[in-house]
Amino acid sequence: MKVLIINGPNLNLLGLRNPDVYGEVTLEQIELWLKDKSKPLNVELQFFQSNHEGAIIDTIHDAMKWADGIIINPGAFTHYSYAIRDAISAVILPTIEVHLSDIMNREDFRKISVIEPVCVAQIIGQGKFGYLEGLHQLIHIKKSA
Ligand code: DQA
Repeated sequence: MKVLIINGPNLNLLGLRNPDVYGEVTLEQIELWLKDKSKPLNVELQFFQSNHEGAIIDTIHDAMKWADGIIINPGAFTHYSYAIRDAISAVILPTIEVHLSDIMNREDFRKISVIEPVCVAQIIGQGKFGYLEGLHQLIHIKKSA
């Protein structure tokens, strides 16, 4: 099984960025941790981070050729990118939306996700464990398909 893990804008700054909200762990550390956790699960992970909407969309399109599922933390694009939503909807790959923080208990604008309706699940507020939970859910979906 092959899974694409996308992180959107500003997530490259994890570790430095608002550590009170996002913790002190870097994106690289999260990716290495996930890679390690995925080994016994027999899942191949491919990571992608970009601050650019179009690059994220191109990567989602490309995943059609090789991936069995997508885990995406769209960053602030979560709240307004209909283009990313349409891309996820177009490729028909099971997609899980993950947020490190609890977006339901922050500013009002974060409570709305335009991405959620095209995802099979939304996981919030679990830090890096949210990505792992997403992986387990994708494996379960693949097994029961
Ligand atoms: C985030 C939540 C978003 O509202 C914010 O813009 C981010 C990070 C999270 O992982 O909690 O960049 O997606």
